[in-house]
Amino acid sequence: MIGPFVALATFVSVVHAQPAVDLLIDHGFPSTGTLNLNTVLAAVTAKKGTFHFGSTYDTFDADQSWFDGIFTTFYRHVVAENGCKWDATEPSQGVSSLTECLGAQSFANQFSNTFRGHNTFWHSQTPSWLPGSFSASQVVGTIIPQHVQAEIQGMGASVTSWDVVNEVVGDGVSAGMTSLQCVQNKGDWPTVTKDGSGVPLVTDLSFIFAAFKTAFQFAGANTRLAVNDYNTGGAEAKTACVINLIKSIQANTTIPFNRLAVGFQSHLSASTGGFDSKSALASTFSTLSALGVSAMITEMDIEVNANATPNLRYQAAIWGDYLDACLYASNCFEFINWDPRDDLSWRGSAAAATLFDTNGNPKPAAYEVAARLQNFANGGAEPCATASGTSVCKITVTGSSTVGSTTTASSTTTSASSPPTGCVSAQFAQCGGVGWTGCALCAAGTTCQVLNPYFSQCLT
Ligand code: G3I
Repeated sequence: MIGPFVALATFVSVVHAQPAVDLLIDHGFPSTGTLNLNTVLAAVTAKKGTFHFGSTYDTFDADQSWFDGIFTTFYRHVVAENGCKWDATEPSQGVSSLTECLGAQSFANQFSNTFRGHNTFWHSQTPSWLPGSFSASQVVGTIIPQHVQAEIQGMGASVTSWDVVNEVVGDGVSAGMTSLQCVQNKGDWPTVTKDGSGVPLVTDLSFIFAAFKTAFQFAGANTRLAVNDYNTGGAEAKTACVINLIKSIQANTTIPFNRLAVGFQSHLSASTGGFDSKSALASTFSTLSALGVSAMITEMDIEVNANATPNLRYQAAIWGDYLDACLYASNCFEFINWDPRDDLSWRGSAAAATLFDTNGNPKPAAYEVAARLQNFANGGAEPCATASGTSVCKITVTGSSTVGSTTTASSTTTSASSPPTGCVSAQFAQCGGVGWTGCALCAAGTTCQVLNPYFSQCLT
């Protein structure tokens, strides 16, 4: 017999809080119709110097015709979902086979997209000849450098960035750990043997330094070299580990900080605790910026609890906040969405975790992403953190939109609460920035231009 409390408990399902959110698409930016990001991405690039917005592709993906279209009009940056991993690129030791990786890159070239590399080292998806019985010195001195050189040299200098090492930091790390402790916490090859015995193999960070030294030697002069990991971005201990690892890499390889990057995978869920706050993300980006290191969102997808409208709006708010954190940061130039369509997502169709539904139609998040790009291109002030909900973040918008099939008159002023109505900032006065609650409209002849995440100014 189940007691009343337990009986009650068994019938109460967990309801994830999905706050009501205010979105740019509620204020004049297109929320229906076809989307074309080409003009707005060019405008964002003009403002930021460079900006890459894309998704994954493999030559064996289904529905290639849909890919051709979406990578012509929406995604404009390509990363191979699997084709550039170790199992695909060195199936036999010392035999480089870049067919799949080059195939993804040629797809990018075919549609005038840019291309990033994922990845030259990961303990997962390794070829069958690994881990073998190689010694630590063989792994560090030959196996890793040989693979990194062959892949990076073979893929050429135009690759915008490489995930030189992927997911090398453990999930059980805690504050104050050294870089070595953070990596040993992963408990996987090559710090330990792969036979589950936990027998130590490489007992220092030399395997990571070797990968980065080789990557730096053979990558293009403008290629960013990244440490890429998940469950990072905010104030997590794992984020601190990744940042300290970047510092260790720089200290031991002398690679300039401005060639190094951190990839925040951002496999999220649209529920409380399922993502980092925008302010925490901005703070992490700012910490890296102070070092001269780039930040990238490398694998974004956001699982929703149910494919219902409120959940999709919450998904859109989170997506928009992460994109704004990147757009308004001085050191973020790549934003990649993992899997371009729900039915192609590694998280499964039911997760509805991507920007396009199983029919290939844009979801609210796709329209919101387009609107955030447009707002930034307009010189609009940085929106407040919409995923915080309407009790914290309300948006008023004016500007012009080129992303939709119709031009919509709208422009942006944003604040944690509505700015004083009717006020106008004079030339050179502040008009926006994280936490700004003053006037966000500029005097005639001036526009609100973003100088950094915390200060936008009325300039001609
Ligand atoms: O290519 C084989 C095919 O020949 C075989 O018939 C088929 C069935 O077994 O498997 C195919 O390989 C699959 C591969 O994707 C290509 O489709 C693997 O089984 C499958 O495990 C692999 O999944 C990939 C996963 O990484 C592997 O860990 C996902 O597509 C990919 O989205 C996912 O991506 C990772 C990033 O690289 C790193 N960050 C996390 C992210 C999600 O796990």
